[in-house]
Amino acid sequence: MPIYRKVFENNQKWIAEKKATNKQFFAKLAEGQNPDVLYIGCSDSRVTAEDLMGVKAGEVFVHRNIANVISNNDLSVMSVIEYAVAYLHVKYIVVCGHYLCGGVESAMQPKDFGILNPWLRNIRDVYRLHQVELDLITNEKQRFKRLVELNVEEQAFNVIKTAVVQKSFLETGYPTVHGWIFDVETGELIDQNIDFTEKLGCIREIYDLAE
Ligand code: CO
Repeated sequence: MPIYRKVFENNQKWIAEKKATNKQFFAKLAEGQNPDVLYIGCSDSRVTAEDLMGVKAGEVFVHRNIANVISNNDLSVMSVIEYAVAYLHVKYIVVCGHYLCGGVESAMQPKDFGILNPWLRNIRDVYRLHQVELDLITNEKQRFKRLVELNVEEQAFNVIKTAVVQKSFLETGYPTVHGWIFDVETGELIDQNIDFTEKLGCIREIYDLAE
């Protein structure tokens, strides 16, 4: 059976399972959402959002794109952040990258990727910011891994550069911003332990939008 037919069969099974454990499951979903977490991750089919975190429907607001990039002029991701912070009042924003990320790997190639070029430029910019450190890593797999980590950090910093995050945090103490890596080879989720308040202070020296 082709996958696009199979999903409708799966969907019916899923509805039956949900109703079997909780008759009110869909009535509850229809009442609205109140997620505490905004998750921004890669579109990679192996890096599921809810599944890898073990969370239920309604618990996490999700945005995914190639290589979990938070680009200042991407109206989509900027709208997601604005809505999640100003209207949903999320407590945590997570940028989750993953090892073996095809987007990051492509940005390391000397190649013209056509319409993908401006997107991958965001990652090449991360490389340029950390060129000294990265060029010292002779093992290519290790260098690739390190760029994945640095990309998560820089994209998390891009979240902290937004006015909505700065203002909300200074007024309410939320949201805090975090960087995670998903290791595709082991399934493990690794916290990059970004010191949010320290980074917020550094970033506001130049990108202060909180007045
Ligand atoms: Co990826």
